[in-house]
Amino acid sequence: MKFCVNTDKKNSWYIGVNNYDPKMINKLETLMFQGNGYMGMRAVSEERQLNERRNMFVSGTFDAFPSEVTELPNLPDILNMEIQIDDMPLSLSTGRVENYQKSLNLKNGELTRNFDWIINDKRVNFKYSRFVSMKDKHLFVSKVEITSDKDINVKVQSGIDGQQSNSETQHMMEGDKRLYDGKFIQMKSETQQSHIKFVFNVRHKLYVDEVLMGNKPYMKMGRRQIFGNYDVDMKANQKFTLVKYANVYTSMDEHHNADKMAESSVDDLKFASLSNYKELLQKSARVWNQNIWKKSFVQIESDDVMPQVSINFARYQLAANTPHDPRKNIGAKGITGEGYKGHSFWDTETFMLPYYTFTMPEVARNLLTYRYLGLEGAHKKALANNYKGAQFPWEAAHPADGETTPLWGSADIVTGKPMKIWSGFIEQHITSDIVIALMDYMNATGDHDFAEKMGFEIILDAAKFWSSRLEYNQAQDIYEINDVIGPDEYKEHVNNNAYTNFTARWCIQKAIKVYNLIKEDNPALYVDLNDKLNLKKTYGDWIKQVNKIYVPQPNADGVIAEDDQYLSKKIIDVSKFKVNDQISNVFKYYNLSQINDMQITKQADVLLLIYLFEDMFTDKVKMSNWNYYEPKTTHDSSLSLSIHSILASDLGLADEAYKLYEMSCETDLGVHVGKAAQGLHMAACGGVWNMTVQGFGGMRIDNGRLKIEPHLPDNWKSLKYQIQWQGSTVKVSVDNENLVVEAVGKGVEFINHGQTYQVAANSNVAVETSVEEFV
Ligand code: BGC
Repeated sequence: MKFCVNTDKKNSWYIGVNNYDPKMINKLETLMFQGNGYMGMRAVSEERQLNERRNMFVSGTFDAFPSEVTELPNLPDILNMEIQIDDMPLSLSTGRVENYQKSLNLKNGELTRNFDWIINDKRVNFKYSRFVSMKDKHLFVSKVEITSDKDINVKVQSGIDGQQSNSETQHMMEGDKRLYDGKFIQMKSETQQSHIKFVFNVRHKLYVDEVLMGNKPYMKMGRRQIFGNYDVDMKANQKFTLVKYANVYTSMDEHHNADKMAESSVDDLKFASLSNYKELLQKSARVWNQNIWKKSFVQIESDDVMPQVSINFARYQLAANTPHDPRKNIGAKGITGEGYKGHSFWDTETFMLPYYTFTMPEVARNLLTYRYLGLEGAHKKALANNYKGAQFPWEAAHPADGETTPLWGSADIVTGKPMKIWSGFIEQHITSDIVIALMDYMNATGDHDFAEKMGFEIILDAAKFWSSRLEYNQAQDIYEINDVIGPDEYKEHVNNNAYTNFTARWCIQKAIKVYNLIKEDNPALYVDLNDKLNLKKTYGDWIKQVNKIYVPQPNADGVIAEDDQYLSKKIIDVSKFKVNDQISNVFKYYNLSQINDMQITKQADVLLLIYLFEDMFTDKVKMSNWNYYEPKTTHDSSLSLSIHSILASDLGLADEAYKLYEMSCETDLGVHVGKAAQGLHMAACGGVWNMTVQGFGGMRIDNGRLKIEPHLPDNWKSLKYQIQWQGSTVKVSVDNENLVVEAVGKGVEFINHGQTYQVAANSNVAVETSVEEFV
């Protein structure tokens, strides 16, 4: 593996750099992002820099600018500190910089940046450190320590700078600014269309040689700005320390009181600032430990530290970007950048939800509840397209909004005209993806309460949509789904995409089962849902349609056609587009409509179907499709590599599985700068866990039962992980000789190569790990 950051063999929680490279600033801002799911900020430097992307977001606080789709507003900057040494503004592009070091501690979320700035024959050492608290989701704390070998004057301007925008779009309206008790700087603000109110507070504490100074800041206010200014003369080797405490609240917060928010938030900051930086960091670190690292434990024993760094990084980013409020979801880029406007896609359900379902089911439940709350928006979308039931939006923001995919993308290289983004209209498989993830959640947790309150309704409503979406082909007496985009976004307006048709039929099959189940077991719920969704007629339609839905079958060579047109398209050599350090290289040669006419696949499509429904395809069919599609796949989506790696593991293609795993781990950590300014690939983070636990660790749901069939990579000595299965904690440990499964809490049952094993509560079962030959 090749990363753009240094790692440490002895500390798999470390990522860092030892030199200041202006080309890498956006990339590092993204990789070293800090957040707690509620809010987050890119790892920009405290002082402003050329070409930086200064972003801070609070999850779910969407706003729409006129004539644009809704997006997550970039918030006032509470991080910025402008420092002058002897009246020279600190900037790494002036003077000389030595001993530069910037690193993120993935374990406790602390970011540090140290360097010597040599200016006018003085060596001034700067040590910055900061964290977004995991304990108090509203709190951010940062610190700068300055020492010099000669006497210096230090001036600092620090506060709240509301002159931020989303690539020049201004979402935040100016509100009141004021100072409380001569110490607490406050700025209020509000989004211009969704009218979400924000309050930001900052307080500084200044120390010289660890002694707290009484200096009152000299205040400066500007348009959407409020700053405190400090001016201190320091002797050689004296230490100047400024600690900045800041918090953020919004009118969307649960349990908030909008009228009291301004005062209560200051009280909260007063209380927080009674503790010092270290104490607050320790409190936050304890929550990281208890709530994240313990629950999602994964340990890889190998001579190479990078696999462990990769899984730590992936879990870190998932925790930093996942809101715990059911009205909010995880954006495709989390809250790490402006990319995709903060919107959520199927990325959550298909790529990130397995991690939560198996390690923190309560978080998975929240994320699925978001879709339940989104039924209103899904009904709107279905109605607008003349369908019935719940058609979930391709891109989602506020749950009730419905579709938020922008209409136009970048220019076509051939016609020069803007390209229409069709996904919001015809990429419809997301409705099935939600049902698939929801069934996995219900199987893995046995959460009946969720099923009865939300799960069953989503399944029935989704199937209602599919039923209305089917097109009857009288000549052949079959139901088809024409004019769609499947998971492979390089094929637009295709008919009968295998993935879409198969999963639509599967949804209807599930709905029929659910309908009969609740009719038998829960008559009150049956009556409720029948009334609400008018199911009697729909049920009749399902029965009429279900066995006539056309699903492409394997041909004589065992290949399942991705869609009606795919196999007759031109075949070209795709290998030159499969370069991991470049993105969407293919567009340098062809435009989308040319690619549409070739057998080029962007990401797992038929192979995704095979991965998700592995028990429905024979090994021979799996292999034939692997051999057919993988060579034609560019992996231009960050959602592609992980699925391929897992499938390669299943197929016994160990070298291929590992190569794809490494490439997938490099999605963000790798050397290419790509679109780093836009943010991180959250689905790839989910993918790292999936490859590790589901691929190499072999943990899957097989017909509602837990299956554990590991494929330990040759260069790993052992793999240990922990999951939750129906209320018990299951600890799995694999090495070259044994698979050991331990159940904590309640006993569990699992299958391994066709055999069922019972593990009694608080005991374990060992199974020999035989070398499986693929046939
Ligand atoms: C992929 C989609 C994905 C989206 C957001 C696109 O490039 O093709 O499958 O949902 O990015 O990550």
